[in-house]
Amino acid sequence: MNNIRKALGVLALLFGAASTAPALAAPNNLPELGAGPAAKAAIAQDKLRKDAVCTRCHDETEQAPILSLYQTKHGVRGDARTPSCQSCHGESDAHVKAPSGGGTGGKRPPPDVQFKKGGAYPVSHDKARGQTCLTCHDGGNRTHWDGAQHDRSGVACNDCHQVHKPKDRMLAKATQPEVCYTCHKKQRAETHRVSTHPIDAGKVTCSDCHNPHGSTGEKLVKKNNVNETCFSCHAEKRGPFLWQHTSANDDCMNCHTPHGSTVSPLLKARGPWLCQQCHGEVAQHPGAIYSGASIPGGPQGAQPPSQIAFRGCVNCHNAIHGSNHPAGRSFLR
Ligand code: HEC
Ligand code: HEC
Ligand code: HEC
Ligand code: HEC
Ligand code: HEC
Ligand code: HEC
Ligand code: HEC
Ligand code: HEC
Ligand code: HEC
Ligand code: HEC
Repeated sequence: MNNIRKALGVLALLFGAASTAPALAAPNNLPELGAGPAAKAAIAQDKLRKDAVCTRCHDETEQAPILSLYQTKHGVRGDARTPSCQSCHGESDAHVKAPSGGGTGGKRPPPDVQFKKGGAYPVSHDKARGQTCLTCHDGGNRTHWDGAQHDRSGVACNDCHQVHKPKDRMLAKATQPEVCYTCHKKQRAETHRVSTHPIDAGKVTCSDCHNPHGSTGEKLVKKNNVNETCFSCHAEKRGPFLWQHTSANDDCMNCHTPHGSTVSPLLKARGPWLCQQCHGEVAQHPGAIYSGASIPGGPQGAQPPSQIAFRGCVNCHNAIHGSNHPAGRSFLR
């Protein structure tokens, strides 16, 4: 008994400390735990006691597996940071105490927070669901959650995460895209094109480039901008180059598309059209045959001429991202 009280003291201390800690500095709001074996045992006991408020009714006889929560990080015993049922679902006093069928309309009143859609009770508002999780998981990767694309579109934590399942599909590289595709069908189609990032192969996953919780970059890219995100794997494209191709420094998306393309490698358009978005007339192009009429024996008024000659701009301008050659001004080497 004494031990439990001691452990509760530790608990209060730990969570007290957590609430004053700056959210940005810690990876999570969660405090570190350095308790000895006795304290751990007491904490485990205490958690089971708390859970029993709910598990005396919600046990292994449930249709959906509830107790498999104990196989996840939320079920680690002897860790003071581990939530009880009530940390997530709320105290739920009315739900616990009402005699069966004693609530309004003959139904047991709902728990404070109902996460499941289409369950026994109407699902709680996405903000209420999110805030419950954020009491422990604010800050860190979720620093920019508030007002970010998913938050403002009514997507809550458990629309992506499955906390009662032994394996949360969101957290494994191979299974994650399938969960994202349930809402992002266009991206699934894109990854089936000729040229793609190896997402289907399980080598690259959505969260390698995106932080779905929120970000300082556009389109939820992981880093501050698209280029920084790409450089985390394609460092050689960062330079610095003696001769920079201005457009490449500016935004990789000027020429590439991230998820998939019919033009390899991940290009937005075929050459020369890709280049001609910006380079309309190339004045003084060496030996340029830039007018259909000027092509010897060419069809009269052939249009557009660059489909015939100089088609593959990168055949010559092959250092397209930038060059370190003293004579590399035109990215020919
Ligand atoms: C980390 C937060 C968290 C904890 C701890 C937690 N739950 Fe849940 N619970 C959820 C979420 C989220 C869902 C919704 C599941 C889904 O969306 O599939 C849920 C769903 C449920 C359901 C509905 C059944 C279903 O089909 O999903 C019941 C019943 C339930 N929880 C009871 C409990 C009990 C009892 C405990 C303690 C042993 C507990 N929960 C602990 C977050 C939690
Ligand atoms: C006295 C038994 C009892 C206790 C104690 C109890 N529940 Fe329930 N709970 C039920 C019943 C029965 C239902 C199904 C509601 C219905 O069909 O009317 C339910 C439904 C739920 C649901 C919705 C399930 C779904 O499929 O949508 C959640 C979530 C839930 N309880 C969580 C809890 C939590 C958390 C606790 C502890 C704080 C708790 N319950 C304590 C009996 C209990
Ligand atoms: C009372 C505190 C608490 C609450 C509330 C809570 N969690 Fe956690 N969560 C934890 C702890 C502790 C861990 C384990 C952290 C670790 O091991 O570093 C964790 C881990 C996780 C992980 C990582 C799991 C893994 O296998 O790596 C996810 C995802 C997560 N929580 C989601 C949620 C969601 C979603 C909710 C709301 C439904 C929620 N948590 C509510 C305490 C909490
Ligand atoms: C759009 C889907 C999505 C939503 C919504 C979402 N997550 Fe995540 N979450 C992920 C993905 C993907 C990962 C794996 C990230 C990685 O591997 O870098 C993750 C990882 C985590 C982790 C473990 C790693 C870490 O960052 O500490 C926790 C904890 C977590 N999420 C909590 C939450 C909470 C709390 C919310 C709601 C406020 C939430 N998530 C909402 C997709 C989501
Ligand atoms: C439950 C549905 C749902 C799931 C699951 C989901 N998203 Fe979203 N996502 C949305 C909604 C809704 C929006 C906001 C509307 C929009 O821009 O399409 C959004 C927006 C985005 C955006 C920003 C788009 C923009 O134009 O700014 C990105 C990037 C994104 N999601 C990536 C992901 C990734 C990666 C995953 C999986 C880790 C994921 N989403 C899972 C529903 C979802
Ligand atoms: C190699 C990095 C990378 C990977 C992997 C990646 N994305 Fe993206 N994603 C981006 C970039 C960069 C943008 C912004 C594109 C732009 O601005 O034109 C983007 C944009 C988006 C958008 C906004 C709409 C759009 O198409 O512009 C959504 C939604 C999205 N990604 C979802 C996903 C999902 C789901 C996955 C996993 C299947 C995924 N992304 C994998 C880099 C990536
Ligand atoms: C997580 C690491 C990672 C990130 C981040 C990343 N890539 Fe990649 N990229 C890869 C891998 C792995 C390949 C496949 C390499 C191979 O097959 O040899 C690849 C291949 C490519 C290819 C060649 C595709 C082909 O068909 O041969 C291009 C172009 C490319 N990436 C552009 C980008 C751009 C643009 C970004 C930023 C939006 C980006 N990458 C971000 C890992 C990454
Ligand atoms: C001006 C258009 C353009 C811009 C901007 C651009 N690329 Fe490329 N990129 C290309 C072309 C064209 C190819 C194909 C080169 C070839 O076939 O020799 C290519 C090929 C690639 C490849 C695969 C072959 C290789 O060289 O490794 C990667 C990876 C790549 N680009 C990454 C990037 C990244 C990262 C950025 C942003 C820093 C970027 N690109 C910006 C036009 C561009
Ligand atoms: C988004 C616009 C854009 C695209 C697309 C683009 N470029 Fe450029 N390119 C520029 C800009 C801006 C400069 C710098 C012009 C200057 O300094 O006068 C430049 C410079 C060049 C130069 C050096 C010019 C010089 O003054 O020596 C060459 C060569 C070149 N680009 C070739 C290409 C090729 C080949 C492609 C297609 C693979 C391409 N560019 C695609 C914007 C673009
Ligand atoms: C047969 C090889 C070859 C092909 C194909 C080619 N170029 Fe060039 N390009 C050159 C050479 C050589 C120069 C001149 C380099 C110098 O003066 O240093 C040049 C110069 C340029 C310049 C700089 C012109 C200036 O005003 O200084 C641009 C821009 C350019 N090319 C764009 C393109 C585009 C766009 C395409 C495709 C439509 C293309 N090139 C196809 C060889 C080629």
